[in-house]
Amino acid sequence: MSYVIGCDVGTSGTKAIVVSEAGKILSKITVEYPMATPYPGWAEQDPDMWVKAALEAIAGAVKKARVFSAEVKALGFSGQMHSSVFLDKNGKVLRPALLWCDTRTHAECVEVTRKVGESRLRQWVSNPALEGFTLPKILWVKKHEPRTYAKIAQVLMPKDYVRYKLTGALGTEVSDAAGTLYFDVKNRRWSKELLTKLGIPVIWFPQVVESQQVCGHLTPVAAKQLGLKAGTPVVGGGADNTCGAVGNGIIKAGDVMASLGTSGVFFAHSDQVKVDPGLRVHSFCHSVPKKWYLMGVMLSAGMSLRWYRDTLGLTEKELGKKAGKDPYNILSGEAQKVPAGSEGLLFLPYLMGERTPHKDAHARAAFVGASARHGRAHFARAVFEGITFGMRDSLEIFRELKVPIRRVVATGGGAVNPFWRQLQADIYGEEVVTVNRQEGPAFGAAILAMVGSKLYPSVAAACSKLIRVVTRTSPNPTQAKVYDGWYPEFRKLYPALRDSFRSIQAKLG
Ligand code: XUL
Repeated sequence: MSYVIGCDVGTSGTKAIVVSEAGKILSKITVEYPMATPYPGWAEQDPDMWVKAALEAIAGAVKKARVFSAEVKALGFSGQMHSSVFLDKNGKVLRPALLWCDTRTHAECVEVTRKVGESRLRQWVSNPALEGFTLPKILWVKKHEPRTYAKIAQVLMPKDYVRYKLTGALGTEVSDAAGTLYFDVKNRRWSKELLTKLGIPVIWFPQVVESQQVCGHLTPVAAKQLGLKAGTPVVGGGADNTCGAVGNGIIKAGDVMASLGTSGVFFAHSDQVKVDPGLRVHSFCHSVPKKWYLMGVMLSAGMSLRWYRDTLGLTEKELGKKAGKDPYNILSGEAQKVPAGSEGLLFLPYLMGERTPHKDAHARAAFVGASARHGRAHFARAVFEGITFGMRDSLEIFRELKVPIRRVVATGGGAVNPFWRQLQADIYGEEVVTVNRQEGPAFGAAILAMVGSKLYPSVAAACSKLIRVVTRTSPNPTQAKVYDGWYPEFRKLYPALRDSFRSIQAKLG
């Protein structure tokens, strides 16, 4: 029997799975870790913490699966996008990585847009300068930490750093490179034009392969730590969102995915590079050769729910602990006690600013419309609804761009909970389905490893064999109508509060 390993280097933890050629998951280990927020809007992690977690998760999964090392044909990594790993000439980490949800780089984005111009950004890299992308992070270090900047010899993405530590090979692949803002998304190569314009050396960036191509082999030391064979191939892998898409079978036109994890992502496959004239959704390379995708991103989707659980929802957290129940289920149970629309209580889920559709690092979260009538259940429901309305903002952009939508494949935490699945169907006004794979990015990375090690001839062949729909949720027409009524109210709130968000941020300094 042949097996592969998929490993996702996420924001809240790293997950490794051992999967058989036939798609059976033999074992799954997640190692969790924290995210540091030294100042409001900042988000950092130590790259070596990811390596430690990946070693622990993979070694644990290999041991638990009880497979022979010779049967493991390849490994694939997926990882959080955009987060910057700065290395010196000896391959040592220079400072903690600035993460995808870090919004300190507003001034750098303004500078890039001024120097390069929006139309050349569109032409060279197909995307606007946004705080979360990698390029402004490099410019932030240049301005604020010149001594560190002077030592930079390589800039890597999280999963590429982990692979580098395990194989000694420097490399990346198209889907993660696309999120840097210095990658020519159309031609799938580094944008020498943009890098030259900004005076950033192209030699800081490694060779780029397609996601399923092998780009390293386990070193003897790493292999020993993992319980695997030295020389086991490691494929390019992919961004967590493209691997999530592959792991949910989103690989052809009409395939759309709604992923509710820490971030919230609406992902639409595209056979060509399509760029939103308003640059509200991102245009990136898919982990499938010659394919692209459009993506709307919310910075605090699951993060809003987790924040609610850990602050205002402490009672539910305690209840969950006592009853041995998942506190999120307790929260969704509470939410179901009040009607759709939370009787006029609305939540804006912008805890870390927002990307799609507002592109505003200064935006913040808010509850609006609270009255003496509202209780805990209303607040809980308003959070679920506010996150889902935020997701609908991306879907509306896809509709406006005439992106074909056959149905929405839900994945992540929002797909597991039946209440949230129904809420998504009602708010999106689309059929919401889930597939037989809930491992998302780790499973997609495993598929890429299967293709890289020739267990399958293509990603499409692997997906058609391994992935099928298991649940279907249609919109409830009555509820959908109620939400169609509340959605415009949600849409009005951000423009109404934008100036206050700005002046509040200015006061905070
Ligand atoms: C996508 C994005 C997030 C991260 C989460 O642009 O920033 O979805 O990939 O890991």
